[in-house]
Amino acid sequence: MDIKQLDNTYIANTYSRASFVAMSGKGALVRDEDGKEYIDLGSGIAVNSFGICDDEWTHAVEEQLHKIQHISNLYYTEPQARLAQMLCERTDMKKVFFGNSGAEANECAIKCARKYSSDKYGARRSTIITLIDSFHGRTMAALSATGQESMHVHFGPFLEGFKYAPANNFAALEALCDGTVCAVMLELVQGESGVNPLDKAYVDKVAALCAERDILLIVDEVQTGNGRTGSLYAYMQYGIKPDIVSTAKGLAGGLPLGCTMLGEKVENTLSAGTHGSTFGGNPICAAGAISIISRIDDALLEEVKKKGEYIKSELEKAPGVISVTGLGLMIGIETEKNAKDLALQCLQKGVIVLTAKSKLRLLPPLNIKQEELKKAIQILKGVIAQ
Ligand SMILES: Cc1ncc(COP(=O)(O)O)c(C=O)c1O
Repeated sequence: MDIKQLDNTYIANTYSRASFVAMSGKGALVRDEDGKEYIDLGSGIAVNSFGICDDEWTHAVEEQLHKIQHISNLYYTEPQARLAQMLCERTDMKKVFFGNSGAEANECAIKCARKYSSDKYGARRSTIITLIDSFHGRTMAALSATGQESMHVHFGPFLEGFKYAPANNFAALEALCDGTVCAVMLELVQGESGVNPLDKAYVDKVAALCAERDILLIVDEVQTGNGRTGSLYAYMQYGIKPDIVSTAKGLAGGLPLGCTMLGEKVENTLSAGTHGSTFGGNPICAAGAISIISRIDDALLEEVKKKGEYIKSELEKAPGVISVTGLGLMIGIETEKNAKDLALQCLQKGVIVLTAKSKLRLLPPLNIKQEELKKAIQILKGVIAQ
């Protein structure tokens, strides 16, 4: 049996895969089983921050692989401690918890928020407000937090204690903030539902309300984090100070690592035995993340912004494009055609693009070469215009 047949036979049908077997690659280029080359504007959904098999990242991971691959979290390891220091120093958060994925990072955020509130105010203050059209992951708590009715079928009963507010409507959110609310959880750019940034004025008001009422502000930076939007974390360009930030995806550049960053209020909320993970903060993944985070400097972030602007300027007035949204290298494109059909046509022409609801979505490697980006955008424009 060939790879696709094997996969279809033995792997649960949870993904509608495109007819493409990724075999190898370098940077923003990826090859399929026939040796055909593609320009990757998806980065494995914002995961391969510096593209495929980036030399420095590969070296860092390989070096750690020859030292120790795993020891339980009952012991100390160097990459984990160094990464934690790096993240705290660059974000002004106080402590971190490492898991393996975005959903897990959000699980930890939810548990932490509820414990903070139950320690201080008792058990009944446990409601978390999230936004309609948000996406926070596929585990039961993260799915309960996700504000999409279409995802709240089949798997009930869901976790109690989540309320959903329409994005960018402060009055509606404020109206939900009764005495039972312990946290508000936001994606600053709603990724999966169409790459829609929240209004800054709205976010400012929400942050002020949270601070005033000791409601924790959780920012889900699973997709927006780690340089993707042109700042190390998107909250930095919104000028707010969240109490908890969750991240994953691009953090370790292609290895599974989730992180929940804890601000001053909650730095000591989780105590020994209240949370944990076998693999979380694994030394190999942490070594990969150190290699990524240490290279997300001002020069790279400037590049991310410039390339984002370039994509927007190319596409905004292109035939067939209705609108372009997003921040940095996290871009949504609304067109007159079916996004999935367009993505398939791009793939046939050698460009990998993603979709988000009815839009096309671009999440290229942060360091994609300008000539590769230019070539891919020309192909994309051609496909949209057809
Ligand atoms: C904003 C956001 N939160 C959480 C998740 C879930 O992350 P993971 O798939 O790593 O569990 C995603 C994944 O797309 C996401 O975009």
